[in-house]
Amino acid sequence: MPPSSIATITPARQLRGRLGVPGDKSIAHRYALLGALAEGRTTLAHFAPGADCRSTLRCLRGLGVDIEDTAAGMVTLLGRGFGRLRSPVAPLDAGNSGTTMRLLAGVLAGHPFTSTIVGDGSLSRRPMRRVMAPLGRMGARIDAVDGHAPLTIHGTALHAIAHQPETPSAQVKSAVLLAGLHADGVTSVTEPVATRDHTERALAAFGGEVTVDGLRVSVRGGQRLTGQSLDVPGDFSSAAFWLVGAAALPGSRVEIEDVGLNPTRTALVGVLERFGARVAVEIAPDEADEPRGTIIVEGDRTGGVEIGPNLVPLLIDELPAIAALAAHGGRVDVRGAGELRVKESDRIAVLVAGFRALGIDAEERPDGFTIDGASRGARPKGGVADAGGDHRMAMAFAIAALAAEGPSTIEGADAVVISYPGFFETLERLVRPSTGLGAP
Ligand code: S3P
Repeated sequence: MPPSSIATITPARQLRGRLGVPGDKSIAHRYALLGALAEGRTTLAHFAPGADCRSTLRCLRGLGVDIEDTAAGMVTLLGRGFGRLRSPVAPLDAGNSGTTMRLLAGVLAGHPFTSTIVGDGSLSRRPMRRVMAPLGRMGARIDAVDGHAPLTIHGTALHAIAHQPETPSAQVKSAVLLAGLHADGVTSVTEPVATRDHTERALAAFGGEVTVDGLRVSVRGGQRLTGQSLDVPGDFSSAAFWLVGAAALPGSRVEIEDVGLNPTRTALVGVLERFGARVAVEIAPDEADEPRGTIIVEGDRTGGVEIGPNLVPLLIDELPAIAALAAHGGRVDVRGAGELRVKESDRIAVLVAGFRALGIDAEERPDGFTIDGASRGARPKGGVADAGGDHRMAMAFAIAALAAEGPSTIEGADAVVISYPGFFETLERLVRPSTGLGAP
């Protein structure tokens, strides 16, 4: 393993500071995709710097979209207009990004050419039937390897469907709605439980019409979208690691500015309050397409939280961070989260193995886990935890390892580049060491 893959975490007494976080990954994917389908120029400020959104830009370039991408986080796309992406000359590489692969599959299903989307080892193990089935019903033929990437998409004129996925998934909802833009009639998706609504908001921001009726979302095919100038808010899922760290370490205070506060993403706020933290949320008065603002967390008590199936879709990317809450004392119990097993890694297995390696009590179940820092009565020893190639595991282990008696090592730490390049540098800035001089 190259040295860059290893991070050493020293114990901390508190986290303190005010900061911004990288642009939201989910929103940036959608703005880039819709910008490519729109008429005219789209300018995106504070575009997500991680490798996943670079994968979306790379795929769009392969589909003939002119993109300028500056180091300052400004991305400009020249939209090709509705249904006018160009047939790619080589496979499109989605890298590690499930959102790129699934949403792009929806877009390409309605384009009159054949294209192939490939992914890395992790993405090639993730389930794709959940998008292949509805897109197939709309008329597209998609070849895969036993339900897994590479996906070869034979696009065609699509017909509208009413889709009712069994598993709540914003990626599936979005893939079907994006295909619905290229279908005859009105396509709808009715979810069993609400998921993040960035596609709905982004469609409206680009001048599209989208109807939301409870858990049913509908789009009419053949709409024109118009290029926009948009600013991507900070990623709440990246902020989650600092919020959890502050909540877990009494006396901490972390203030995150200009972060996305879309209510389908912020269920963590209630979790932190139930755990015993003080949380203040200030939504900016001039919020446009996506609510944003400042969130402040102060650590006070460490308690216990139970998370059940209905809350899981609204916390799906925060569950690894939430596990780290209990590493410092208290208890976290998560049920109905079997979806975690088909993320960038098997997040239940990798999480429990990593926490145990750090000396933290962790129990694995088929659909969840329990982390019990309360029963131990002493600090965990620390150790060597393997992120399993998964960005959110690397960050969760780093926050958990702050609780240990001595230094810990995170193997595969460079996975953080997927969503949060600079994570470890920011950690260093926020940490007040548990030994030595660091005053609060
Ligand atoms: C995402 C949706 C979630 C989430 C992923 C990003 C999105 O996946 O885990 O990181 O941008 O739509 P599912 O919708 O498949 O649960």
